[in-house]
Amino acid sequence: MKTFRIIAVLLTVFMFANSHAQTKPQSKMDKFITSLMSKMTLDEKLGQLNLPGAGDITTGQASSSDIGQKIKEGKVGGLFNIKSLSKIRNVQKVAVEDSRLKIPLIFGMDVIHGYQTEFPIPLALSCSWDMSLIEESARIAAQEASADGICWTFSPMVDIARDPRWGRIAEGSGEDPYLGSQIAKAMVKGYQGDDLSKNNTIMACVKHYALYGAAEAGRDYNTTDMSRVRMYNEYFPPYKAAVEAGAGSVMSSFNEVDGIPASANKWLMTDILRDAWGFNGFVVTDYTAINEMIDHGLGDLKTVSAKALNAGIDMDMVGEGFLTTLKKSLQEGKVTMAQIDAACRRILEAKYKLGLFDDPYRYCDEHRAATEIFTDANRKEARKIAAHSFVLLKNQNQLLPLKKNSKIALVGPLANNRENMPGTWSVAADFSKSVSLMEGIKSVAGEGCVIQYAKGANFVSDSALESRISVFGKLTARDNRSEEDLIAEAVDVAQQSDVVVAAMGEAAEMSGECSSRSDIGVPENQQNLLKALLKTGKPVVLVLFTGRPLTLKWENENIPAILNVWFGGSEAGNAIADVLFGDVNPSGKLTATFPQNVGQIPLFYNHKNTGRPLAEGKWFTKFRSNYLDVSNDPVYPFGYGLSYTTFKYNDLKLSKNTLKPGEEIQVSVDVSNIGKYDGEEVVQLYIRDMVGSITRPVRELKNFKKLFLKAGETQTVTFSVAESDLRFYDSNMKFISESGDFKVFVGTNSKEVKEADFTLLK
Ligand code: BGC
Repeated sequence: MKTFRIIAVLLTVFMFANSHAQTKPQSKMDKFITSLMSKMTLDEKLGQLNLPGAGDITTGQASSSDIGQKIKEGKVGGLFNIKSLSKIRNVQKVAVEDSRLKIPLIFGMDVIHGYQTEFPIPLALSCSWDMSLIEESARIAAQEASADGICWTFSPMVDIARDPRWGRIAEGSGEDPYLGSQIAKAMVKGYQGDDLSKNNTIMACVKHYALYGAAEAGRDYNTTDMSRVRMYNEYFPPYKAAVEAGAGSVMSSFNEVDGIPASANKWLMTDILRDAWGFNGFVVTDYTAINEMIDHGLGDLKTVSAKALNAGIDMDMVGEGFLTTLKKSLQEGKVTMAQIDAACRRILEAKYKLGLFDDPYRYCDEHRAATEIFTDANRKEARKIAAHSFVLLKNQNQLLPLKKNSKIALVGPLANNRENMPGTWSVAADFSKSVSLMEGIKSVAGEGCVIQYAKGANFVSDSALESRISVFGKLTARDNRSEEDLIAEAVDVAQQSDVVVAAMGEAAEMSGECSSRSDIGVPENQQNLLKALLKTGKPVVLVLFTGRPLTLKWENENIPAILNVWFGGSEAGNAIADVLFGDVNPSGKLTATFPQNVGQIPLFYNHKNTGRPLAEGKWFTKFRSNYLDVSNDPVYPFGYGLSYTTFKYNDLKLSKNTLKPGEEIQVSVDVSNIGKYDGEEVVQLYIRDMVGSITRPVRELKNFKKLFLKAGETQTVTFSVAESDLRFYDSNMKFISESGDFKVFVGTNSKEVKEADFTLLK
């Protein structure tokens, strides 16, 4: 008995000493927050977890009220989507002067692709494949937003999307996990810089964690359900990359994952995000996502709020479930004080890192607001970035670039429209300041260019549909003349011209949140206009505006030149004109596959092989994996995009044909610009793992390089491939590589490639 007691005492002493040895000395921030929290009441702690909305856009089930009073009572942690420096200053004043503990508020906003200087929509930005330009766009967005009171953005959205029916494909970087991860890192770096407390950097919020882009049938907010293997290998990488890049916050998604909505999913929020990936920032829900779990069928507001806190959610956007029910749940033992403290601490830490405790008005500098927003320099950068995001889809007989002294018939609902240029989620934009295509052409082509304009078609003929897409100030300006009259006017103008520039496609709000479409073609009335224009015999250039891949089979077969300009932001009109007239040679490459029809969806390049693959180049073979009525091919594959010049790939070489861990293979290829124009090319490297313990995709992007080549120039591009590039999550979720044969492909897009083989030896 005595011996037992001695052992117990020794054990206790050892454990005590050990636990002390492991405790890190408290940082200045920890001490400050510990001291602050020691003064906070339970209500005040819950107040920090509350994020009411204060902007004009209500996307969820509730909107916020009595905000001023709640701030005084310490019941608000932050606010979002206020676009007014004076309002932000005033509410911050209430928080730091009239509330008991004077804790500053954090101010968030959907700064998605720029603040007032809008850059192209994220899907377009991704098509630049240019990480420095993407980072620069986020840096400028941060600089402008922070000059106007904002210190936290709900971006980057890194959801992998393979279903173009889903309108929010516009807000992400497309279908590829590797490219998506590079972009996620660049965005976080652009927003946060190297020091969050600087007054011109803002905190990033990675969203929508997780799998929001995999909504069934492309219907927004719909259920997602997928295997862990797919989740880990194909959907998780960009979230993880953004977390590893140091993103300060994460937003939980609306959808369920494995039957549990993300906001109540402990596995997702704690086991993966915090324990496996080491995330140490805070998690905010999406708009009323906690309340929406009532409709998901998880219980009443008190139950779902407790589930959210238990899962690892820190901040409740708009719904006030945390504010109104957690006290009761604490009394009932459904949540613990330690959980509330942890959430409160994380939000206070974010405020500390942003420097708000040192100066709550750090981001409220009227001089900066007057001099750093929508500047000429920022607009110049936006114009350059936009031109780099456009994708030339077709250019028969080198119809483009146009001559500046042409007689142009400019037609279509997007030819003379400013509001729709910035694209979806452009909360801070002043649409009256965007540059329309007409304005851009006039300024770039100058006096020698004769422009005759006709609208030619409304966005859609169905007026009820038109009112659904005429929102957030992005008016569609319906013309009430008949479809025939509109077309007749455009044909008349076309007949008097050398070339027709048809600015058509989607209105800005035909993509984005809650803008799913079941038919993703160019609307029929616009197609009728295109047909009538083609009949004139004049060459037609389709300047295609869209927030998603469209089904362009007919357009690709019939229209000689197609330039996909997405939604290019404030400077869209100028940037499009720069490309149309050849001042900039287009270099964008698609980051999402363009299918032939909706029936092929989901169609993506990095699919599996199946046990009955269709032979390359075949249309249909009985008992093979294919369709009776359409081939398996897309209209435009991932990575596709033309240039005014031509690039030729020659001489793919590997430095050796076997690879061991710790070694590298050099993969090199000669790329020549054999055309007349200088231009940029994105050289893409894909790999296929030929044999695995689980099935592997037919190819996966593993690297890329963007080159500038003068006309006539050749460069040798070299990539290194290491064993670490070949790792994947196996069926036990172990991140491993497996020895065996691999194919490496290098080319101008995911289909047109040169290939070679190597073997991994372990
Ligand atoms: C969207 C988020 C957005 C939030 C706040 C939600 O409806 O899903 O992406 O950040 O609203 O505006």
